[in-house]
Amino acid sequence: MPSVLLCYASHDGQTRRIAERMAARVAAHGGRVELTDLSERQPTAAEVEAADAVAVVAAVRYGHHLPPARRFLAAHGARLAAKPVAAISVNLTARKPEKRSVTGSVYLRKWLKQTGLRPQVAEAVAGKLDYPRYAWFDRLMIRLIMKITGGPTDPGVTIEFTDWDAVDRLGDAIARLADQPSGAS
Ligand SMILES: Cc1cc2nc3c(=O)[nH]c(=O)nc-3n(C[C@H](O)[C@H](O)[C@H](O)COP(=O)(O)O)c2cc1C
Repeated sequence: MPSVLLCYASHDGQTRRIAERMAARVAAHGGRVELTDLSERQPTAAEVEAADAVAVVAAVRYGHHLPPARRFLAAHGARLAAKPVAAISVNLTARKPEKRSVTGSVYLRKWLKQTGLRPQVAEAVAGKLDYPRYAWFDRLMIRLIMKITGGPTDPGVTIEFTDWDAVDRLGDAIARLADQPSGAS
């Protein structure tokens, strides 16, 4: 049974929900999934090596993917270079379809450049806007970003921009990655 190490870094919970949905999809394909919250536990080298494929799903805050994802990629870069990898960036810029590919997403491009990662699957997924949840400074900053980028600025709104069909497609793609014969590039 192919195994997937599916790691995520989430601050407000949306990336966790996205990773859980992907995990369910991989399981539906008959794969074994190890779902890991990187803020709670960093997988060991042996766990990374044992996986047939590794997926990293990380939220963006203030232009950067969350530190637990950065730590994981820094620790396992060489090991990850040797196996099928998926890198999924969760952010609000990806509410615009043209900002979901490596060419369209500045976050994905920066991420791959900084980590040296060469993922077979790399995509940005839209997250959730939740003004009432944010501390005042974060709310102020996100409203400013939304104003600049033409998004909603009403401080009372909560909008889930996540395209769950796209999440399911990514889950399918991750399942296929783990199904590749080992050593395939
Ligand atoms: C304080 C803060 C900073 C954020 N910074 C960015 C950003 O720089 N670019 C972006 O596209 N989205 C940004 N977002 C949006 C988040 O990426 C989005 O809300 C995502 O769903 C968060 O995932 P999480 O719920 O797993 O933490 C930010 C959100 C917050 C609350």
